[in-house]
Amino acid sequence: MSGHAVAIAHPNVALSKYWGKRPGEGNFPAVPSLSVTLAGLETRTRVTWVDAAGDDRVVLGGRALAASEAVRHVALLDAVRRAADHRLRAHVESHNDFPTASGLASSASGFAALALAAVRAAGLDWDASRVSDLARSASASAARSIFGGFVELGVGDSSARAVAPANQLPLVVLVCVTAEGPKAVGSTEGMRRTLEQSPYAEAWLARAPDIHAEIRAALLARDFERVGECAEGSALAMHASAIAAGVIYWNGATLAVLSAVRALRAGGTPAYASIDAGPHVKVLVRPSDAERARSALEAATGVKRVLDARPGDGARLVEAK
Ligand code: DP6
Repeated sequence: MSGHAVAIAHPNVALSKYWGKRPGEGNFPAVPSLSVTLAGLETRTRVTWVDAAGDDRVVLGGRALAASEAVRHVALLDAVRRAADHRLRAHVESHNDFPTASGLASSASGFAALALAAVRAAGLDWDASRVSDLARSASASAARSIFGGFVELGVGDSSARAVAPANQLPLVVLVCVTAEGPKAVGSTEGMRRTLEQSPYAEAWLARAPDIHAEIRAALLARDFERVGECAEGSALAMHASAIAAGVIYWNGATLAVLSAVRALRAGGTPAYASIDAGPHVKVLVRPSDAERARSALEAATGVKRVLDARPGDGARLVEAK
């Protein structure tokens, strides 16, 4: 038996943040999250199952990963081997059309595309929830990139699911890139340290579900300003708890963008900031305000470039067998 498949997946930005895992196996989040999957930027991943001896081969952006860098990929591939009941080796080739230092997490789109391609190349006819669960076991935010539009990931063993289509809330995400190069502390490590060492970890875990519920309700009511206010609140609460554990992702330009966002609001333009496990700032604006906001954000000290993205589709298969 052998087979191949090619899948495409897009990054996502969480409006209510996942930060912290439930104790135990399975990479289950401790808090619910809600994200928007982004159009335009994509990861394309080819998986070929081959009848050969040796290890899986994982090539990202033309570079073969060392075994120590491919631990999560191999664990995901092992799960597919178990389900398909075969012992074939995988050749994985993956490419992002957006730079790794773009400020957008490539692990979400990367593990979503890998999960879909690996499952289908193995001939397994899994539904999107099951593929999403597999992606979650590698990186929880990847579970959300299987679906398009606005996507929720609950706590415990609940699967990710779409809560609203991409056109539910017209918005543009302006990604303000404030540094080049990879982040210093990965999100897995950053959230582990936060839960273990932050004096505010309990406050974050207690508050996050309420922020999530508010964002969900505001999204369903198509209330852009409320979604934006709560999304900014989620990011600030997450970072406040992380900072208190010494996990500081921000740089000077992060603060300059936060100021520019406040100035936009003071001037009557609804704009809201979201920050993930890095120094970049994602600014949510209405499409009609995007150009004005972009000029203001580009002028903030230390901003290297501003990319724009909009709500888009989930992962899809582009080739199989
Ligand atoms: C700040 O999904 O990268 O982007 O499950 O350990 O791989 P692992 O973490 P990951 O964490 C994402 C954290 C975040 C918030 C979010 O996307 O919800």
